[in-house]
Amino acid sequence: DDYELGGFPDFMRKEMAEQPEAVERALRGRLDERFATAHLGGLGLDAMALRAVRRVKFLGCGSAYYAGQMGATLVEELARIPADAEPASEFRYRNPVVDPDTLYVAISQSGETLDTLAAVQELRRKGGRVIGAVNVVGSAVARECGSGVFLHAGPEVSVASTKAMTNMTVSFAMLALLLGRVRDLSASSGARIVNGLRALPEHIEQVLGTDDAVREVARHYSKATHMFFLGRVRGWPVAREGAQKLKEISYVHAEAYQSAELKHGPLALIDPDMPSVVVVPDDELLSKNLSTMEQIKARGGPVIAVTNADLPDGLADHVIRVPRGEPELDPIVFTIALQMLAYHLAVELGRDVDKPRNLAKSVTVE
Ligand code: G6P
Repeated sequence: DDYELGGFPDFMRKEMAEQPEAVERALRGRLDERFATAHLGGLGLDAMALRAVRRVKFLGCGSAYYAGQMGATLVEELARIPADAEPASEFRYRNPVVDPDTLYVAISQSGETLDTLAAVQELRRKGGRVIGAVNVVGSAVARECGSGVFLHAGPEVSVASTKAMTNMTVSFAMLALLLGRVRDLSASSGARIVNGLRALPEHIEQVLGTDDAVREVARHYSKATHMFFLGRVRGWPVAREGAQKLKEISYVHAEAYQSAELKHGPLALIDPDMPSVVVVPDDELLSKNLSTMEQIKARGGPVIAVTNADLPDGLADHVIRVPRGEPELDPIVFTIALQMLAYHLAVELGRDVDKPRNLAKSVTVE
C-alpha cells in the first residue's frame, strides 16, 4: 500500500489529486474542435440513432446516481430533450415502464454493483436500449450493456468515489454535447462547451490548489454535528453529493436541500449551530442564491459559500473559491471543492477516510 500511495496519506487524497489527469484521459481523442462535438464511438449509435433518442434516463447508486442527475441536467440544457436520473436500486422494484425511444444509461465505477446490474437486466428483458458508463473494463455492467462509454479514471481504491465520479459527469457532458449537436445546439455553443471541457483539468488544478483554505474552513466547523448543503438546479446534485461525502467519511449528519425548499420546512432548523454550505455559481441564478444566503444569515445561521462569483461583503462567513468556467460545467469543479471539505473534516475528526465504517467500495449484494 505504501508504494501505491506514492507519498499520499491515503487513497482518497491521492485520487482527488489525480483528477486533472483522469479528466485528460476521459477527454482524450473524444473532442472534435472542427465540428464542435464529441466522439463516443463505444456508444455504437450513429447520427440517426442519436436523433431518434427522445428521452434519457440515468441509473446509478450513490455518487453514480448524483453524477447521473448532473448528466440529466446537462442533457436537458444542451440537447433540449427530457432527461432524469433515478437510483438504480429502486428501478426494478417498481415495474418500470420501459420506453423504446429512451436511452438508458447505467452508471457504475466498479461495474459490479448488484442493484445497477439488476436494473440493466430488467431493461434488457423489456427490450430497453441501455448503454454503460463504467470505469472497470470487463466488469459485469460493462459486459451486460455491451456498449457505452468507459470512464478511464484509473483504479479507484477509496470507498468514497472522487475521480471516477468526476469522469462520469465529464462523460455525460460529452454525451449531452453529442446529443445536442445532432439537434439544435449551434456550432458556437458546441465550441464553447468543447473549450470548457478542455479547460477543466487546469480549473481542477486551481480548485485543488485551494487546499489550505478549505482545510481552515473544515477546522472552523469541526465541532458541527449537523450541516445543510443547499443548491439549485445545476447546484442541487452538487449539494446532494457534498452532503453524501460528508456523511460517509466524517459521520457528521448532513442534509441536502434545493435552496428554494428551505422556506418550506428546513428553515426552522437554522440557528448558530447549523452551518449551511451554499453552492453559488456565477450564473443566471446568482441573485436567487444571494437571497438564500441572506435568509440563512437573518436567522443566525453560519454560511459557507462555495462560489466563483464576487459576493457582497458580509453575506458569507467563509468562502471556498472555485474558478470560473462554462456554467454548464460548474458542477464538476464545485463537486471537487466539496470533496475537499468533506475530506478535511473527516481527517480533522480522525476518521479512516478510505474505509468508512459500514460501507463497501462496491455493493454486490442486495
Ligand atoms: C457504494 C460506494 C459508493 C458508490 C456506490 C456505487 O455504495 O460506497 O461510493 O458511489 O457504491 O458504486 P459503483 O461502483 O456502482 O459506482
